[in-house]
Amino acid sequence: MTRILMVCLGNICRSPLAHGILQSKLSENHFYVDSAGTAAYHLGNAPDRRSILVAKSNNIDISTQSARQFKVSDFDTFDYIYAMDQSNYNNIVSLARNSADIGKVKLFLEANDSISNKNVPDPYYGNIEDFETVYAMINDTCDILVNSLND
Ligand code: 4NP
Repeated sequence: MTRILMVCLGNICRSPLAHGILQSKLSENHFYVDSAGTAAYHLGNAPDRRSILVAKSNNIDISTQSARQFKVSDFDTFDYIYAMDQSNYNNIVSLARNSADIGKVKLFLEANDSISNKNVPDPYYGNIEDFETVYAMINDTCDILVNSLND
């Protein structure tokens, strides 16, 4: 079993999308996918209604996800930890205990050579089009990750 964790700030906009999208593309027999936020603003909340809507229009149900905060034991549980932006990356790495922990953390968009800005923009204060842009960028990058994970 390969375990993959998607991380953003609040765990209600970007990482729930990355979680749901990646999970939909991988066999649950071989992959466990989860998400978390570096902040504790929205603990226990469902994803933002705009993330739920955009996912639903792409036949992915993320409505049953519940926000949680990233914790140090996630370094033990997960093989790959993907940060949605550089600030998330820095926050995760600041909790690392050793170089093995740090080695598990990657900037999600580093996998995607066709996107030059490696930060998934935070759509929280934006509109539905911002969520659609984020969805497309995460979906394309998950396709690339799936190819490398299934190698
Ligand atoms: P996320 O977006 O990190 O993609 O879940 C945010 C959600 C909430 C807040 C910030 C970003 N907030 O400040 O409450």
